[in-house]
Amino acid sequence: MNSEKILREIADELHNSRDRKKTHFKMHERIDQLSNDKKFIHESLLNCISTKKFFSNATNLFFYLLIEGDVIIAINIFPPNSNNMNDITHDNIHHHGWRLLSTSVISGQGYDTISFKKKSHENRDENRVLLEVEENYTHTKGGTKFLDSEQAHVVFHPKSTAATLAIWSADHPIKTQKIKKMFKRFPMINKYLSYTARSMGLSDLFGLNSTKGNYFHPEGGIIVETRNYSKPHDGSVNEIVPCMFKFFEQIQFNDKKYFDKILNDNTQDVQNLCNNLIQGEPLQDNGISGDARRRFSKNQILDALNYN
Ligand SMILES: [Fe+2]
Repeated sequence: MNSEKILREIADELHNSRDRKKTHFKMHERIDQLSNDKKFIHESLLNCISTKKFFSNATNLFFYLLIEGDVIIAINIFPPNSNNMNDITHDNIHHHGWRLLSTSVISGQGYDTISFKKKSHENRDENRVLLEVEENYTHTKGGTKFLDSEQAHVVFHPKSTAATLAIWSADHPIKTQKIKKMFKRFPMINKYLSYTARSMGLSDLFGLNSTKGNYFHPEGGIIVETRNYSKPHDGSVNEIVPCMFKFFEQIQFNDKKYFDKILNDNTQDVQNLCNNLIQGEPLQDNGISGDARRRFSKNQILDALNYN
């Protein structure tokens, strides 16, 4: 097993393709297989957590496995809401600009999500964003789901932690030079992602070139564009690291040798999590509190869409 080779093959296949959307669909079975391939997931994770100060900088819910050109391959954790609120958004309604996304559930029961018709967020009636629902469903294990470029969607906190394997690429071939310009803040490295790349949130990657907004939310019974959206991180290290360990427990990423080398570099809290994980003690699934400004209920959204 050489997880790096597999990741690079996926990136190459996308980079060499003229019809990116078609290539995503062609890969769907493979992505689903990889999300179930413990060896692949374990090896990829091990590469991530072995990078220097991984846990001390863990403030977002991603493990970036590869960032190369316009392709991003990551594991994304979806924890529950620590306030025990049901059907609460994990983030605002948003779209990923020019990026395509294929995603498959690795662990947990998945999450509820609503996807909207591509570009329907561009239709407006004054302040009202006339989003049209395409699908209101639960993304569960088995099968890869696809999100088109400029296709808005919203994800709700699950009741217990879920994780996905996510593959993003541009929706059309982009010249390397242009990509470098677009990402001049982020170094284009793949083998050992720099600190900047490892610690960035997805909003850093997606707030690009959108004239009709990237983020939306319900307000006063209608959907409006979110102004001044800011999401520097998903939570504090104290919240995020236990979510990561809950995910490790779910996928039996609990071999002592995975953690031996890093134990001494970490705080007592992380060491305790490591020891509990290795010894098979059940870990808590407390989730994250999130940000009150990004917390909306499913009903609030469906009401604003006149969908209920
Ligand atoms: Fe998204």
